[in-house]
Amino acid sequence: MLTVRAPVPADLDAIAALGREPGDGVLPDVDASSSFRRSLMACSEGIVVAYGSIFSRPLHPARLRLDVFVSPDSRNHGIGRTLVHQLVAKIPKTDVRDLQANYWQSDRSSAGFWDRLGFEHLMRTRIGTFDPSSLAEEPIQRLPEGVSIGTGAELISDRSIWNGIALLHETVYRRNHWWNPPAPIDLHQARDLFLQPADLIPDALFVALEVAGPEATPHVAASAVASAVASLRASSGAGRCELGWIGARDPDLKATKPLTDVLLHECFAYARAHNWLIDIEADDADPILGPLADTLDLTDRKTFLAVTKARPA
Ligand SMILES: CC(C)(COP(=O)(O)OP(=O)(O)OC[C@H]1O[C@@H](n2cnc3c(N)ncnc32)[C@H](O)[C@@H]1OP(=O)(O)O)[C@@H](O)C(=O)NCCC(=O)NCCS
Repeated sequence: MLTVRAPVPADLDAIAALGREPGDGVLPDVDASSSFRRSLMACSEGIVVAYGSIFSRPLHPARLRLDVFVSPDSRNHGIGRTLVHQLVAKIPKTDVRDLQANYWQSDRSSAGFWDRLGFEHLMRTRIGTFDPSSLAEEPIQRLPEGVSIGTGAELISDRSIWNGIALLHETVYRRNHWWNPPAPIDLHQARDLFLQPADLIPDALFVALEVAGPEATPHVAASAVASAVASLRASSGAGRCELGWIGARDPDLKATKPLTDVLLHECFAYARAHNWLIDIEADDADPILGPLADTLDLTDRKTFLAVTKARPA
């Protein structure tokens, strides 16, 4: 007989023994609306056969996320559907947020499951690796008048510009996540998220600087503002790097393409000079990385899908 109940800490080993780490954890329950979480496990003959959780992520609170896993031997008996129904029933009545689930495209069970439960496509994220030395070298674009390029290493000691770089990342990130709107991100959080020392390669953070006003011309460095960014990140390990956030303050993509092309060119040249492979994670909604991923011959290619379902009003 199947029983469904909330797990307690003593269940965590049995849940882990199912073979897949719970995405954002299953315990404890959390009640703050920005980080709500409930979890359930299903047992058959005293053995844990499934778990699931529903939670909201502090940075992307717009939807409630569902994560469900059923042990291979117990699939196709309605257990996953039962867990989802019971988890959704735990959402407070005042919380009307839509639902979201994520899975790898190669996971056909999740694809069929979320489709049958009425979830629809939200976003595709392509993940992979490329060798920048295999790319045809693009002719270097001319920088627009009044624009220069600085690196993170040169700019890190200028507090005003450094803060501007953090906030510019926030602008780009928010614009590219219209499909999953981030919570407000203040300056402190922006520095933490986008300029984390462990993740940063200061020489490989490329910033387009524009003079703030005509009267400032004799002191360009002091009056410059960051207008576009691109970077390589250190998170990938030896011999490789990750292509970071790229974009411009001005949302007019056509107008800023010459700028972002130059910054991208700098990133590729830096990686080539260090003999690094580049990892990329490109949402289809990213107006620069999405089209770039179309042109790349990625190795270790994986595709992550997000699906969503509206809640009845
Ligand atoms: C996806 C998963 C949760 C489904 O659980 P389950 O208990 O087998 O699903 P259910 O029996 O409740 O099925 C519910 C519906 O989904 C459909 N479904 C389930 N598995 C399916 C599959 N492999 N292909 C197509 N449809 C499927 C069922 O047909 C059913 O529809 P119906 O009721 O209209 O007939 C389970 O297969 C699983 O845990 N897979 C691994 C997920 C994972 O961890 N992936 C890696 C992380 S991304």
